[in-house]
Amino acid sequence: MGVTINVSGVDKVFSPAGGHDIGVLDRLSVVFAAGSITGIIGPSGSGKSTLLHIIGTLETPTAGTVTYDGTPAPSTEKDLAAFRRDHIGFVFQQHHLIPHLTVLENVLVPELAGKGKRLAGDALSRANLLLGRVGLSERTQHKPAELSGGECQRVAVVRALLQNPDIVLADEPTGALDASTAANLLDLLLELQREDGFTLIVVTHTPEIAARLGRIVRLEAGKLVEVDG
Ligand SMILES: Nc1ncnc2c1ncn2[C@@H]1O[C@H](COP(=O)(O)OP(=O)(O)O)[C@@H](O)[C@H]1O
Ligand SMILES: [Mg+2]
Repeated sequence: MGVTINVSGVDKVFSPAGGHDIGVLDRLSVVFAAGSITGIIGPSGSGKSTLLHIIGTLETPTAGTVTYDGTPAPSTEKDLAAFRRDHIGFVFQQHHLIPHLTVLENVLVPELAGKGKRLAGDALSRANLLLGRVGLSERTQHKPAELSGGECQRVAVVRALLQNPDIVLADEPTGALDASTAANLLDLLLELQREDGFTLIVVTHTPEIAARLGRIVRLEAGKLVEVDG
């Protein structure tokens, strides 16, 4: 579990139609070791989400490469979707749960969407197991509107972990939560990381969150710099 992510010489330039080019990442290189935990900080607009999207294969770099245990992601859209589903879990600032589905159904959405076939029994049991693991076994038949923000975000974490990903990418996962709920969500992410050993990258604005992530890197002028302590 956990793969080494090697980002090498990555440039990202957005070229909006009729506008000026926006250079966001500039020859950026960084290695995230298998099973490591890294916090990414940096000012708003510095490209943190862009970098996470490139690592997560949601966005393509303008130049440079990203490899996963030495291998690039597949190039066709279909293979890429399968690669993402099987290896990468995303947690965003907003939980993006589907309002008319139950908690359990929400967790199973990527499984159903990705495979286009009947649900495998092991996915259902893992969903129930993980929901229990995050303290939500009594809430599996509830709709998102009946849950608190922190509970919804825990459901989003379970959804991200359902396929047993090698990599979990979290983009300001606690940004919409109050301080104590945020601390609890981080506890949970770190516990699950310890159990499953996935490579974890967390973008955060919050110094208290960053301080608990071991390695911290700051995105500045298109490059990453290591932050001590
Ligand atoms: N799809 C896009 N098209 C044009 N510009 C974009 C796009 N996505 C992001 N940007 C620009 O890239 C810069 C970095 O954005 P982002 O990665 O979201 O920063 P952060 O997550 O650090 O706040 C910003 O100037 C943003 O406006
Ligand atoms: Mg962002």
